[in-house]
Amino acid sequence: LVDKTKPIGIFDSGVGGLTVVRALMEEMPSESFIYFGDTAHLPYGDKTREELFSYAYRILDFMQKNEVKAVIVACGTHSAVTLPRLEKEYPFPILGVVKAGARAAAKISIKGKIGVIATQATVNSLAYTRNIKEIDYRLEVYEKACPLFVPLIEGGYLEGEEIRRVAAEYITPLLKKDIDTLILGCTHYPFLSGVIKDLVGDDVILVDPAWETVAEVKGILQAKNLIQDKLASPWHQFYVSGDNCSFFKVGRRLIGEVIDKVERINLA
Ligand code: SIN
Repeated sequence: LVDKTKPIGIFDSGVGGLTVVRALMEEMPSESFIYFGDTAHLPYGDKTREELFSYAYRILDFMQKNEVKAVIVACGTHSAVTLPRLEKEYPFPILGVVKAGARAAAKISIKGKIGVIATQATVNSLAYTRNIKEIDYRLEVYEKACPLFVPLIEGGYLEGEEIRRVAAEYITPLLKKDIDTLILGCTHYPFLSGVIKDLVGDDVILVDPAWETVAEVKGILQAKNLIQDKLASPWHQFYVSGDNCSFFKVGRRLIGEVIDKVERINLA
């Protein structure tokens, strides 16, 4: 029998999944969680399907050993590429950001023209297009890979001339398609919301799939009576497979002191 005091598992290639942690802590502050940043294999966006599957199995086995009650795939690339198969192979619910992001965007768009920015692997999978078209086949979807964003964000470059120039290069072709909704299809990208909002203006709504994903997780845990009691004192553990100093530094800049320690572990 699963116990409601068990943690939620969350993983990403690096600091990107912290945008989901931010939403989780706001919506479900009593929950404990284990975060794994696979920084030894960063960025995920340029990896093959085989590589991504081998990382995902190792991480999910680690989560299973830690007796999580659910896992959030806080990573656009894994949500798009590995999750459709892996969600059926473990005994706990595994939720990703792609379906949730597609659902949120389909609800918001008035013109029916939706842009998606994501990693190369996510764009190649066409997972966003498929999920949005399943909701309503008339919706138009325009996807654009932004391979430089993840390395810049992991390096702590969240503003400035360089990131503005790169963002304009990626996003201007989508604006020419007359989109009114833009999905931040990689969990790193909401950390660039300021730069992206300045570029797209008020006529385009930015969708951060983290919020819809966390709402979905909450609904599933509620249905299973697995929500942690309000008075519980939650704990939070952060693990990485590579450099823990840079994760600690950049992560704290992004979500603050909730990150008090980052442990390096080898899942091989
Ligand atoms: C990456 O490491 O390329 C980003 C992972 C993601 O798609 O969210």
